[in-house]
Amino acid sequence: MDRPLAPLVWRSDHLALLDQRLLPHREVWLTVRNAAETAERIATMAVRGAPAIGIAAAYGLALEARRTDLPPGSFRDRLHDAAATLRASRPTAVNLGWALDRMLALLEPAAGEPSSIARRLEQEAIRIHEEDVAANRRIGALGRDLLGDTATILTHCNAGALATGGYGTALGIVRAAVESGRKIAVFAGETRPWLQGARLTAWELARDGIAVTLITDGMAGHFFREGTFDAVIVGADRIAANGDTANKIGTYTLAVLASRHGIPFYVAAPISTVDLATPSGDAIAIEERSGDEVVEATGVNERGEPARVRLAPAGVAVRHPAFDVTPAELISAIITERGIIRAPFGEALRRAVASPG
Ligand code: MRU
Repeated sequence: MDRPLAPLVWRSDHLALLDQRLLPHREVWLTVRNAAETAERIATMAVRGAPAIGIAAAYGLALEARRTDLPPGSFRDRLHDAAATLRASRPTAVNLGWALDRMLALLEPAAGEPSSIARRLEQEAIRIHEEDVAANRRIGALGRDLLGDTATILTHCNAGALATGGYGTALGIVRAAVESGRKIAVFAGETRPWLQGARLTAWELARDGIAVTLITDGMAGHFFREGTFDAVIVGADRIAANGDTANKIGTYTLAVLASRHGIPFYVAAPISTVDLATPSGDAIAIEERSGDEVVEATGVNERGEPARVRLAPAGVAVRHPAFDVTPAELISAIITERGIIRAPFGEALRRAVASPG
């Protein structure tokens, strides 16, 4: 195995982002130098995954605080404007707003000279990044004990190192189980239309030598009927106060199938994904992305460059909700770094959020 996989690296004068739109065909690192560039990279999904976009946004704000190429003005107003731009870049993952709120708290009330605020913002972004990796490792250590010595796991989208500060949530559990000597096989749903399962999860697990089998999303029911899976483990973009969970479109379908077939359905997520201000899944804003992403697919041409291919007839009506909500009653447990939380989720989630960590 190469060095541990991470989707973003802090270089003190810039943020390096692994362009996830080009994986697995090409490993291209993008340079980001301010908040607007960071927001654009988040919106266009060069960086994606709930924890990773929160970390990227934190670094983006830290970079904005260090800019010397702007006319003098209110430093704090500029940072608040930059945070608003970053916050608007994707609506569903609460980790984005959570990370920005942590950063903005350093501006209140009278926080000192711009240069010392900039230093503190940089330190806070690094802390957010390091805490996420530590949370993933703890989630992995707790979650692996839910699995037997041999297990076949179905996962969806990519909740791996690429979606986090490193190591991963759902795939962190897989990694921890493999590291502890368990024999784990993973089925990855391809996750139309962005193909995070086919492009990212398959690549990330194969890179670590973990057995992975790719299926199309529509094949899941067939394999449930065949008794292939011992558990489903997915990540989350926002967990409401009652345990309802938003995750990549197609997750709800898998939760219904798991319930129908008596297979445990686990959500793995850091506490930063829990949003007590959102009472239930009905109140979660679901991102609606361009229909072009559904009627076209991206592959690579013979030169290894990204190439779009049209799949559907011109003018067809199309919808593209990027996430769906799985009701709490279909979730067997939520695995966080502060413990494994089971139904009834409300009180347990409140206690976990309030605990010092
Ligand atoms: O649209 P994406 O690729 O950002 O969606 C990502 C997911 O749905 C992940 O499952 C979720 O963010 C958890 S990542 C640890």
